[in-house]
Amino acid sequence: MTDYKRIVILSGAGISAESGLATFRDEDGMWNHHRVEDVATVEGFAKNPEYVHDFYNELKKELIKANPNPAHLAITRLQQQYPAQTAVITQNVDTLHEKAGNQNVFHIHGQIDQAVCTNCGHILSTWDDVTTEDICPQCSLTGTFKPNIVFFGESLLYMNEVDELLRSCDLFISIGTSGVVFPANTFVRTAKYYHADTIEFNLKPTVNNYEFDRHIIGPAGETFPRFVEELINVNESI
Ligand code: OAD
Repeated sequence: MTDYKRIVILSGAGISAESGLATFRDEDGMWNHHRVEDVATVEGFAKNPEYVHDFYNELKKELIKANPNPAHLAITRLQQQYPAQTAVITQNVDTLHEKAGNQNVFHIHGQIDQAVCTNCGHILSTWDDVTTEDICPQCSLTGTFKPNIVFFGESLLYMNEVDELLRSCDLFISIGTSGVVFPANTFVRTAKYYHADTIEFNLKPTVNNYEFDRHIIGPAGETFPRFVEELINVNESI
């Protein structure tokens, strides 16, 4: 089948690897250098918010400099040149999908350029440092901002929209995710249940490899643009 009408792309850290950003669980990944408990859990933030803010402020300085790679740009091409509605569900907190011009992007794990007030829910969009000294412009309390990153133990963002997308897509594509983090690792199952074709792009087979119809092994910056090219060409020749 090539005449897809609704495409969902799930992205993970691997799509940004060729932009020079570290993944989490590969060799030299982020979780080999930092303890998840310290920087990515509700308990860690409650124990030492200054440390957690510092961690994300540093990460922000790195992510603001990063540029999208051919895999991100191929999504824009797909959205502009293939006649389907294409949405991106990303686990990445970087903003490379937006920098590449991707539309319809859902950051289910939050995004680095935002902080959320834990008192009133106000979202602050900023590339500046966020600290425990900051005052929320909406509720005027001090020290209530938390990086708008979904920590282990918190609910994911945009799950209603995601559920609807997974139930209605006819092609589900996963790019550069190890498939070990719940619930993103179950999205393929839902899409499959609702009869979508499923394709995984990764450097290597993943733990939920068996849930996909097709596997395209290799660097996403090479394999995914090629796939988009083929999809567009086949569609034009129909
Ligand atoms: P992981 O680090 O767990 O997995 C990255 C995946 O990308 C691996 O399967 C790699 O094989 C693959 N990969 C690496 N380079 C690639 C390339 N050039 N082309 C294609 N694939 C490549 O990262 P995620 O699955 O995204 O949560 O991790 C999920 C979540 O765990 C993250 O969102 C993060 C972390 O805790 C938060 O930050 C909230």
